[in-house]
Amino acid sequence: MKAAVLTGVDTPLEIRDDVEVAGPGPGEVQIRVAASGVCHSDLSVQNGTIPLPTPIVLGHEGAGVVEEVGEGVTSVAPGDHVVLSFVPSCGTCYTCTRQQGFLCEQAAMQAMGGLLDGTTRLTSGGAPLHQMACLGTFGSTAIVPAISMVKIPEDVPLEVAALIGCGVLTGVGAALNTADIRAGDTVAVLGCGGVGLNVIQGAKIAGAEHIVAVDRFDAKLDMARDFGATDVVNAGERDAGGAVGELTGGRGADVAFEVIGLKSTMEQAISMVRPGGEAVLVGVPRMDVMLELNAAFTFLYLNKTVKGCWYGSANVAEDVPKLLGLWKAGQLKLEELISREIGVEDVNEAFTAMEKGEVARSVIRYDG
Ligand code: APR
Ligand code: ZN
Repeated sequence: MKAAVLTGVDTPLEIRDDVEVAGPGPGEVQIRVAASGVCHSDLSVQNGTIPLPTPIVLGHEGAGVVEEVGEGVTSVAPGDHVVLSFVPSCGTCYTCTRQQGFLCEQAAMQAMGGLLDGTTRLTSGGAPLHQMACLGTFGSTAIVPAISMVKIPEDVPLEVAALIGCGVLTGVGAALNTADIRAGDTVAVLGCGGVGLNVIQGAKIAGAEHIVAVDRFDAKLDMARDFGATDVVNAGERDAGGAVGELTGGRGADVAFEVIGLKSTMEQAISMVRPGGEAVLVGVPRMDVMLELNAAFTFLYLNKTVKGCWYGSANVAEDVPKLLGLWKAGQLKLEELISREIGVEDVNEAFTAMEKGEVARSVIRYDG
């Protein structure tokens, strides 16, 4: 099969036609990948922000059709349509049974770049290829754990379903699950990419009255308005903290989300929330980033809460149907997130378009 392979940090993805796929092992499922979003986290593996072993098939935001199931798999059957989850969720471990499926204990193996037993089902030129997030949706076929998917109705277009797998679950989940947004709140969102736009639409659903979108590209700020932002700030032209202060009579935002992954904007998000407010950190920083916060003011005198947000604090088995329900009810924009449909051979150009701020999401479509 054809796949986009990262062979080393800071090198372009190679498009290979010779990738061989071993059949699904016990507890695994073979997926015909129909569509995959190109997310900033894929680019972050390429540039070394997220360290993963190479060579690796990237891609972690996908949907497709079950082709074959391995021994013991009863949750899905051939022909089922599924959203792939970039965090496996077993439903039975300590964290899963505490409503924290996004921290499933089975997910620890993902850092090795293989499936749950540490090995991969892909080879190219006789050498093993790793799979990002136990998935690897930059390939037209994927062998993945059965606990890394949620069955969906067949009338949901698979390119729409793909986006749920990362950007929508993460962004909308940050607003609905992680944060405590109250009706009438002022919310700031730093970074209006594929994930940040979903934080914005989640904040709107949660009842925020003022949603201040911050980005360095005006085109992104236009998209932010379409997704529910009431005010926009171009960070290259104005200080975002000052702008949020002006909009709130000097008080600060009730909730601020950082959806970029930089030290400076994380610290800015924390500083722009009001006393008693909360900052939610969604963006994935480099591994060596340390934050500098004044302990007395941040946590004591101003009593701020700083929350991390992994995978939108989602429990995928419940949240995927919930998000599809919101979409069907016209409350969630999904088609509008797709700026471009591309072939897998165009993935390097999609990375460039993302860095230039040209797209909300590029979505790879596979033939057949
Ligand atoms: N100030 C303001 N906006 C910025 C800045 C900055 N210094 N740097 C980047 N941005 C904006 C970009 O212009 C872009 O619109 O942040 C947005 C990031 O969006 P994408 O590149 O589309 O990334 P996305 O897929 O949304 O992911 C965002 O969440 O899941 C994580 O790893 C992911 O850390 C990444 C973050
Ligand atoms: Zn992602």
